[in-house]
Formats: sequence, C-alpha cells, structure tokens
Amino acid sequence: MSEPLLAVRDLHTYYGDSYVLQGVSLDLHPGTIVAILGRNGMGKTTLVRSVAGLTPPRRGDVVFKGRQQRGRPSYAIAQDGMAIVPQGRRIFRSLSVRENLLLPTSRLARGARGGARDGGRPRWDMPRVLQEFPQLAERIDHPGGALSGGEQQMLAVGRALMANPDLILMDEPSEGLAPLLLRHVEGIMKTLRAQGHSILLVEQNFALAMAVADHVHVVSSGRLVFGGTPSALAAAPDVLDHHLGVAREGGA
Ligand SMILES: Nc1ncnc2c1ncn2[C@@H]1O[C@H](COP(=O)(O)OP(=O)(O)OP(=O)(O)O)[C@@H](O)[C@H]1O
Ligand SMILES: [Mg+2]
Repeated sequence: MSEPLLAVRDLHTYYGDSYVLQGVSLDLHPGTIVAILGRNGMGKTTLVRSVAGLTPPRRGDVVFKGRQQRGRPSYAIAQDGMAIVPQGRRIFRSLSVRENLLLPTSRLARGARGGARDGGRPRWDMPRVLQEFPQLAERIDHPGGALSGGEQQMLAVGRALMANPDLILMDEPSEGLAPLLLRHVEGIMKTLRAQGHSILLVEQNFALAMAVADHVHVVSSGRLVFGGTPSALAAAPDVLDHHLGVAREGGA
C-alpha cells in the first residue's frame, strides 16, 4: 500500500486539565475519504483541530506528507497543503463571496505553496471553483452573510479548494442542511475524490459518512472504538448501538 498522506499516532489533547483526545491513531492514504463518526462532544472537532495545529496536542505525532507537524503553527501546516472546512462554516459574513474565496490565496501567497505542488491534479482557481459551484458565481458580489446555509457550506468548501490542498479536513459539512443539500454535499465529496483529493471527514450523519467513506472510524470519549470499511461497520451492531445511537436516529 502507498505511504499514508496523513499518519496520526497516539494523539493526546487537553483543554487545560480536561483530557479530551486519549490516544488516537489513524492513517489516511492519498485519494481516499476517511470518516470519523461519533456523538456530540466525543472529540471529533478536537481531532480535526489537533491535526491542523489549531489546538496543539500535548503528545503524539501528526505526520503529514512524511513531515512531523506536531508543534508547528497552523499556518505552517496549511502551507504544507492542509485546508480545513470548519464546523459552522466560519465564512466572513461581511466580505463578499469573491473576497472569501480569495482569502487563502492571499494568505498562502508568500508561503511554501507558491510552487505548484498539486500532486498532478488540475489546480483550483476562481473560474474553476465558480464552475464547480455555479450558485456562488451567481452571488459573487453578495456578502457571505447573505447566503443560505447550503451556499455558505459551498463557499467554505470552495475557499478550502482555493488553497489547492493535498488534504481537506471537513468538520460536519452536513450540519443544518436540508436533505436535498445533503445529497449535494455527498456529490461534492465523491467528485473531489474522483479528482484525486483526499478528505478527512467528521460527521454525525451516519448515512452520509457511510455513503462516501473508504474507511470509517468511530470515536467515543476521545478514543477510537472502531476502524474499518463502511460495510464492516454496518455489520457491527454493538458499535452502532453503543456508540452511534444518536447518529443513527439523527442520520439517514
Ligand atoms: N475550547 C474548549 N475548552 C474546553 N473544553 C472544550 C473546548 N472545546 C471542546 N471542549 C470539550 O471537549 C470535548 C470534545 O469536544 P469536541 O468539540 O471535540 O466534540 P465533537 O465530537 O466535535 O462534538 P460535536 O458533535 O458537538 O461537534 C467536549 O467535552 C467539549 O465540551
Ligand atoms: Mg464538533
């Protein structure tokens, strides 16, 4: 098998005295989608933020593209090719759609991403993002705050793509979206994978994660309690019942 694009080893993360991630390890191989499922408050966002250097872990390794990232600032990790679509979108409400999309390019312009290290994928730029998300093209000069929740999610994904990342971290992209938009988000992720992108996806939506992921982990109280294919998870009723009851009811 290929070298993992991302290797997380025995990660321990705290908020002050609060011990949240209690030894998490996982691999993500290029061109795959790895999903993290788990109920509210189990540590999914903490895992994403630890990987991206936003909430630095106290112990363990985050090896991205063969380079140890733990201890490096989040902007340096971003420059190495990791982009985040944060929980709650976090777009800039007063900036226009265009300005939101241009932010990563200005931020990364002087960084190590200046060279075209895109792993052989066609590069993302404004025309290509607008072609992929025509709704954003129609609203290019509108303030981000005027967009619907679904449009804001597309903007958050488009903004991440503008950085031409090698790995995209997506934290609950389905949160608050109507069923039709869920299908759209599912389609976007499948398209991105078909284009060679790699995604670490955090989800509470069981059906969505099962539909797109190559590999699924279940997190419970800061530990991974399951790792396997979606079909292996579907065949593990004890895991589903004990660790994903909420996700299954709230999912599909
Ligand atoms: N900034 C913080 N300071 C202190 N505790 C925090 C902070 N952020 C999260 N926590 C706690 O850490 C634990 C894990 O939170 P986290 O946000 O990672 O969960 P999650 O799985 O992403 O939940 P959700 O599905 O609600 O997004 C929770 O107990 C939460 O209360
Ligand atoms: Mg979260």
